[in-house]
Amino acid sequence: MYCKVIPAIPAHVWPPDNENLLKFKKNILCIGAGYVGGPTMAMIASKCPDYRVTVVDINPERINAWNSHELPVYEPGLDKIIKKTRGKNLFFSNNIEKAITENDIIFVSVHTPTKTFGEGAGKAPDLQYWEKTARQILEYSKSSKIVIEKSTLPVKTAAAMEKILAPAKGKIKFEVLSNPEFLAEGTAINDLENPDRVLIGSRDTKNGLKARQELVNIYSRWVPKEKIITTNTWSSELSKLVSNAFLAQRVSSINSISALCEKTEADVSEVAKAVGMDSRIGSKFLQAGIGFGGSCFKKDILHLAYLCEYYGLPEVAAYWESVVKMNEYQQQRFIANILSSMFNTLAGKKICVFGFAFKANTGDTRESPAIYITRKLLAEQAYVTISDPKALKNAALDLADIEGNIIYEEDPYKAAAGCHAIAILTDWNIYKNLDFRKIYKSMIKPAFLFDGRNIVDHAKCCLLYTSPSPRDRTRSRMPSSA
Ligand code: UDX
Repeated sequence: MYCKVIPAIPAHVWPPDNENLLKFKKNILCIGAGYVGGPTMAMIASKCPDYRVTVVDINPERINAWNSHELPVYEPGLDKIIKKTRGKNLFFSNNIEKAITENDIIFVSVHTPTKTFGEGAGKAPDLQYWEKTARQILEYSKSSKIVIEKSTLPVKTAAAMEKILAPAKGKIKFEVLSNPEFLAEGTAINDLENPDRVLIGSRDTKNGLKARQELVNIYSRWVPKEKIITTNTWSSELSKLVSNAFLAQRVSSINSISALCEKTEADVSEVAKAVGMDSRIGSKFLQAGIGFGGSCFKKDILHLAYLCEYYGLPEVAAYWESVVKMNEYQQQRFIANILSSMFNTLAGKKICVFGFAFKANTGDTRESPAIYITRKLLAEQAYVTISDPKALKNAALDLADIEGNIIYEEDPYKAAAGCHAIAILTDWNIYKNLDFRKIYKSMIKPAFLFDGRNIVDHAKCCLLYTSPSPRDRTRSRMPSSA
């Protein structure tokens, strides 16, 4: 979602002419300049100053933004690394044809959203952009190339890519590798610089192993050898889907327990801490809240479920689909709690939403629980004020089709003033340390706080608050004259 008017592209950042290509040891291309392609290529360019890295995209606005001072994605530390490399050995361009012709190593990082039509709609991946890219590579290649899948793709996609590339002319050969990206938004630069592992899948043939080594050579410039793992192509493709499914499953597991905690005297944060301290379980991804969002989790689980159905494993598919269902249930529960706490009517009441991004430290709102929750609030005829440090523009695009009373206000104090309730929907650090006494004074009483991320110290809030906190807290009422 790119909505800025971007200044013109400075001439110096276009890729150098052909004769300059020779001064670089290798020429690497990435097709797709999104949240994965942009930061990943910036890291490769920074760690391999003797390689020329080009990033292309069909969207000219996006390329313009990468070439401007206003990068199209917000990611802590990204601007610094772009400043260091752009125009030196990192280039952003629209000229896909020229770029394919000039480069020998091509990463494919185009998006693979869930299909919205036809067979498998709502579950299967929509591979049209990916297939179009494969056909472009075939059409414009004048020499042999290594093609690397960076996008998260269903297992066996590389085989389809190989088939599309098979009719190559003359001596041109393509080797297709899988190298899924595990970076998380908001921590992308650190994840790229210090990855838990780099996964490279290839065929076990002479050419497959040679291509694999090329990729190992790139990553071993900065990643310790023992963290670079190599597998067959299919294990690599499946591992990415499974990693995301396991992470999402943990969030849904703890969220299912949060529902039980609210019916009992248990505190989900205390349960998560006690459970997570078991070294076999570990403490990460046990933060209860309104559920997961982002471009990957839901999409990848549904793709995994679709794959299971395709291979005749309906029980396995149902098991993974339940992770997504639990996520939806958690958001419905959150809304139901707001309604019942506020006397079963929101009509004409002002609700302030703190945070619209799907998680902290990003402006990305794709699949953000805030979209569903805000739409529900508006459907109840509430007046909604949305506050977020980085995601207000995307929020406006997400809600563009909806009729309702919406105000966008970055400053949380101004946003909350005059409201009946606050709903915290993103775990931004700023919301943890707000002066809630001051905020309370500016709100309409009785004032409510619905902490959808379980991040504020409720004892310090002079407000009413509710889910997903434990029941005893839900009922506590602070002095109305704080
Ligand atoms: C994820 C994977 O982590 C990454 O490895 C993969 O490559 C892409 O998908 P990302 O979508 O950027 O990354 O975000 P992540 O940090 O994994 O969070 C996903 C969602 O889960 C967020 O909405 C987050 O708020 C939520 N979450 C996470 C919880 O609700 N509780 C937790 O304990 C952790």
